Amino acid sequence: MKEALMRIASQFALEGTVRSIDPLGGGFINDTFIVRTSDGAPDYILQRKNKNIFPDVPAMMENIRKVSEHIGRRVAAEGGDPRREAMTVVPTRDGALCHCDAAGEYWAVTEFIADTVAYDKADSEALARKGGEGIGRFQALLADFDEPLAETIKGFHNIRHRFAQWDEALGRDAAGRVKDLAEEIGWIESRREEMMRFWELVEQGTIPTRVTHNDTKISNILFDCTGRVLCVIDLDTVMNSTSLNDFGDAIRSYCNTGAEDDPDLDRVELSLPMFRAYTEGYLSERARQLVPAEIDRLAFSARYITYEQVLRFLMDYIDGDTYYKTAYADHNLVRTRAQYKLLQSMERQAEAMCAVVGELAAKYR
Ligand SMILES: Nc1ncnc2c1ncn2[C@@H]1O[C@H](COP(=O)(O)OP(=O)(O)O)[C@@H](O)[C@H]1O
Ligand SMILES: [Mg+2]
Repeated sequence: MKEALMRIASQFALEGTVRSIDPLGGGFINDTFIVRTSDGAPDYILQRKNKNIFPDVPAMMENIRKVSEHIGRRVAAEGGDPRREAMTVVPTRDGALCHCDAAGEYWAVTEFIADTVAYDKADSEALARKGGEGIGRFQALLADFDEPLAETIKGFHNIRHRFAQWDEALGRDAAGRVKDLAEEIGWIESRREEMMRFWELVEQGTIPTRVTHNDTKISNILFDCTGRVLCVIDLDTVMNSTSLNDFGDAIRSYCNTGAEDDPDLDRVELSLPMFRAYTEGYLSERARQLVPAEIDRLAFSARYITYEQVLRFLMDYIDGDTYYKTAYADHNLVRTRAQYKLLQSMERQAEAMCAVVGELAAKYR
């Protein structure tokens, strides 16, 4: 293993001499290693990219390079350090952005950003605010990015695409479960039009398409030792979409007082204080660039993304549990109900959420 990793690392244009390569825990998607070097050279992150999730790793790496270089230029123009505040993709010795090994696995290298603080989970208002700042700053640095990005995961957060899959899944009824799900299917159908209306605004350009991160968890944000946002990492999912999708997805996960698959629905609510904290962080970085159509629908985007998740869990249950890993028989149905409870909590608090957005958008404009 050690030698195999050494051989892979040697494909890349690293500075210095490789001293050691060790696994670095923490991620869920890729296999991550830290490559330590000598001679005062930087250390590196070596990753085996998950090709089950990303069918086109070279296109994904091209997205990451474009976005990282843009952020680096913006950081440098502001007088910051692009080697710490942006990701730096290290090419192979032949100038490719990834290396395909004999087993067909894809590997990529970035510079390791040292002396940082990271958090596993945003479990306080202070951390929720930091998370909002991180994604807000990331989007702000990319506000003037205008190169096309590859759609590395097709139809991501595109509800028109999801409804097409949904209609097929209902028609197929692969696991024979549709007859017992009239109530749950009604949850989806009764909101179909409302959700399509939102997505049509994106399709028409009323809500602009920009660069989104698409995996906004706080563990993907590195902070410096004073607690300032340094760099957003894990850019595997960057794509062109509405900024609101990043916001909505963060709210769905940061602000749920229960678990995504909580069997006890009494525990599941949207926490308004956590919503305020994330929104404050986000808008403090981003309010000045968002157009009114985006501000107006920022709170709604949390419902849009949560609704999509209800649909996806229920659709997988209808399909016979083929997409999400399940730990027990009705896991996808439990997830469906827990996310639906969260959606209802957001619907109940819609007015209060809009008021928070309005107040903070005015404060940071
Ligand atoms: N450039 C980097 N500098 C410092 N640490 C990094 C860097 N890239 C990744 N890491 C560390 O490795 C972990 C996993 O990397 P990540 O790209 O988030 O993979 P995954 O997609 O599996 O979550 C991160 O949570 C972080 O701790
Ligand atoms: Mg990660």
